[in-house]
Formats: sequence, structure tokens, C-alpha cells
Amino acid sequence: MGAMASEHEQQRTDHGQRHVGHRRRGHGNEFEGFLGLLGGLTMAFGRGRSARLVAELAEVGPGDRVVDVGCGPGRFLREAAERGATAVGVDPSAQMRRLAVRRIPAALRPAITVTEGTAERLPLGDGSATVAWAVASYHHWDDPAAGLAEVHRVLEPGGRLLVAEGLARPRRWFQHHALTWDAAEDLAANARQAGFADVTATRHSVGRRQFVVVAGRRPADPS
Ligand SMILES: C[S@@+](CC[C@H](N)C(=O)[O-])C[C@H]1O[C@@H](n2cnc3c(N)ncnc32)[C@H](O)[C@@H]1O
Repeated sequence: MGAMASEHEQQRTDHGQRHVGHRRRGHGNEFEGFLGLLGGLTMAFGRGRSARLVAELAEVGPGDRVVDVGCGPGRFLREAAERGATAVGVDPSAQMRRLAVRRIPAALRPAITVTEGTAERLPLGDGSATVAWAVASYHHWDDPAAGLAEVHRVLEPGGRLLVAEGLARPRRWFQHHALTWDAAEDLAANARQAGFADVTATRHSVGRRQFVVVAGRRPADPS
């Protein structure tokens, strides 16, 4: 058990994942309706530093094709497009997709698509992306192993994976929306099992918030 959370705050889910809180949260109604709108607006503003950190860690630039898994209101899509990439946002919530589409600046519209889907069923072709990231969405996936397998499928050989989550701290009330360090290590192990190479788990600070980032890449096909 890691130093970041006490034992009673951690649980193993059906997927053998350690995380904090009551249960893995699916995409039920949490991101729909009025509450979804409020949550989406909260996520839409003040995320510039986080978006820059994610894009820099993923080394996104012109020519990249980015998939944002669980794009929410789309702040991270904008960051990818501003760096010259094209970006597809996938989200199961109609409310989030509406917000994301509304918030795309006109100049970036040709570079950004927002579409319905889940991590477990990405509506994208094999090898169609150079980068796949999931920011604060992984802890909502119903089936993390299936989601990682899907991300692996849609990345081209050599493509980069990046999963960013808040780092859970003991006895904070919002902990079910964050991963403990142990859970991040489980995620890294699952990513290796899904076929990713060079998998790392690292901690980052943005202001007073701490993040854990699990990164890896789909290995190049053997020649
Ligand atoms: C906390 S929000 C984060 C949104 C966005 N990535 C951001 O950081 O601004 C989590 C998002 O994950 C989406 N989500 C829930 N279940 C999902 C799943 N199984 N696959 C992909 N996304 C999912 C939700 O609809 C929601 O938009």
C-alpha cells in the first residue's frame, strides 16, 4: 500500500484496480442534464496549464492525429488543434459533446471533430491516431482493460498513449475522481499488459493540484 492513501480509503475493483472512493463510476447520468452542464462548465475554464502540460508530455505538434478519450467540454481538443494537430473527441455524454462543439473557436473547427463513443468502443479505425489521451476520464471507464485494448487498436505503431488523472490525497472528499499512486501503478501494469511499451507513471504539479500521468507507446510493428 502506497504512502499516498490509507488502507481503508482504497479498494480493489472487479478489474483488480486500486483506487480511492466508493466505486468506479460509469457514464450514467453524471455528465447529462443540468448537473452535467454545471460540471462541464467547471471543466471548461481554467484548465489551460493542465492542457499545456498534457500536450507537451504527449509532444503534440503539426501532423499529429489526436484522440481525446472522454473529451468532456473539449479544452484539451483545443490545445491539440492550436498546436497544429487534428483532434477527435470521443465522449458518451450528449451534454459534454454539445458543450465541446459549442466551445470550439471558429478558426479551429476544421481541425476538431466530436463524436459519440466510449473508451471501450471507440468509433475509429485501426491505426488512425498518432496520439491518444484520456484526461480525468480513465476512472470513469467501465472496463479499463477493454478501453486500453481499444486505445492500442486505434493508435498507429509508434503512437503515444497518455492517461492523466488527479493524484488522490488521503481524506479529501473528492477522492473518487482521482487515482492513488498505487492505482496509477496498476494502470501502468495494465497498459503493459495491453501491449504498450516504455510505460511510465510520473507525478506532476499544476498550481496546487497534483497529477499522475501514465504514458506509453504502441510498439512499432516488427519489420
Ligand atoms: C471528469 S470528465 C473529464 C473531461 C475532460 N477530459 C476534461 O478533463 O476536461 C470525464 C469525462 O469522461 C466521460 N466518460 C464517462 N465514461 C466514459 C467511458 N466509458 N469512456 C470514455 N469517456 C467516458 C464523461 O462523459 C466525461 O465527459
